[in-house]
Amino acid sequence: MSTIKAAIVGCGVIGRHHAAVLTAHDGFVVTAAVDSVLPAATALADELSAAGAPSPFVAESLGEALAGADVDLVVVCSPSGLHVSLAETAIAAGRHVVIEKPLDVSIARARRISELAAEAAERGLVVSVISQHRFDPANALLAGAAHDGRFGRITSGLASVAWWRSQKYYDSGDWRGTWALDGGGSVMNQGVHTVDLLVWMLGRPVEVSAQTAVLAHDRIEVEDLAVATIRFESGALAVVHATTAAYPGDLTRIQVHGDRGTGVVSDDRLEYFHVRADDVEDTLQGSASKENQAAGMLPDDQMAGGPAEKDHFVRGHSRQYDDILGAITEGRQPAVRVDDALLSLATVKAVYVAATLGRPVLVDEVLTGILDDQDVTVGVRS
Ligand SMILES: NC(=O)c1ccc[n+]([C@@H]2O[C@H](COP(=O)([O-])OP(=O)(O)OC[C@H]3O[C@@H](n4cnc5c(N)ncnc54)[C@H](O)[C@@H]3O)[C@@H](O)[C@H]2O)c1
Repeated sequence: MSTIKAAIVGCGVIGRHHAAVLTAHDGFVVTAAVDSVLPAATALADELSAAGAPSPFVAESLGEALAGADVDLVVVCSPSGLHVSLAETAIAAGRHVVIEKPLDVSIARARRISELAAEAAERGLVVSVISQHRFDPANALLAGAAHDGRFGRITSGLASVAWWRSQKYYDSGDWRGTWALDGGGSVMNQGVHTVDLLVWMLGRPVEVSAQTAVLAHDRIEVEDLAVATIRFESGALAVVHATTAAYPGDLTRIQVHGDRGTGVVSDDRLEYFHVRADDVEDTLQGSASKENQAAGMLPDDQMAGGPAEKDHFVRGHSRQYDDILGAITEGRQPAVRVDDALLSLATVKAVYVAATLGRPVLVDEVLTGILDDQDVTVGVRS
């Protein structure tokens, strides 16, 4: 099988990360580095050459790279509000596409790329959206247990992203913290991963109520704190808490509860897992033993309290690239499709619309454009 030749579009923080992940992966090679700020593309090309990788073609635009370099796969790592337009260029040129999260910041554009991706799939093109935490073994274990009924009827969930981003972070790029290009704050940029996991585990979200605020940052248009509740089609309810105003940050938690079991993942690692066995009596307050059955279910570095996984951030993207490579070579759909990302994006947008209108909104109203993001002045009620 030949190596997949990738163009990195947007050579900032995450573009450089993709380049490192792809260079370390046997199935890929980076053949083009593209950035509208040319020195950023040149710096990435220099970094790759210095590390002994083939020197990629350097370009200021995707069109230039597609004309000048050998490219099978376009990896979109630009500011979020440019994701769809760059992906459209790549699909029109007949290339496979990987889009960084979130899918985009506009539902109208996201719906358009969903249609284009479906047509592209018929032509054998793979279009996938990054959601690397779906590939963390602990999250996959919880999703599997939720889907195959081991937790019984799913009753509720919790997704908490208690992170810190300094003022310096927001000041580090003109696009950060803007509605037009970041599309939102703590729930759109940082929280979308965990909202995506919740939707993956709990099923189709139906209704969202929310409040947002800006409490710890200046000069940003978007929220640094969002809390929301979600009602799912199954009847399950969930709580979302996403903030970049929780110093020192980096606490992430996801809980799934059912009438036969519970799973908890904290910071991407398995903290608690319990499923009721058939021969265990359900007493007034659950089983007498609430034993943590997680022990031994996953390697030590996937368990809360165990040693940290080596290169966790790299491994996450690399695990998703294993799937993308499989999809390209086997001619199948990737595990994370555009429509999955569209549903998660609509859930995040519903948080903003609900917070702005001060009332619950249906995800379908957002998804179908009845309540289009352009029609609502998405602001922050603090
Ligand atoms: N999956 C993850 O864990 C993860 C982590 C960080 C960021 N992201 C996502 O990655 C994207 C980029 O974030 P970042 O932190 O790397 O931002 P960044 O500002 O560091 O990098 C963005 C780069 O894109 C370039 N750019 C802008 N317009 C362009 C265009 N039209 N063509 C080519 N390049 C263009 C900019 O010059 C910049 O170098 C965002 O959508 C963000 O949500 C994902």
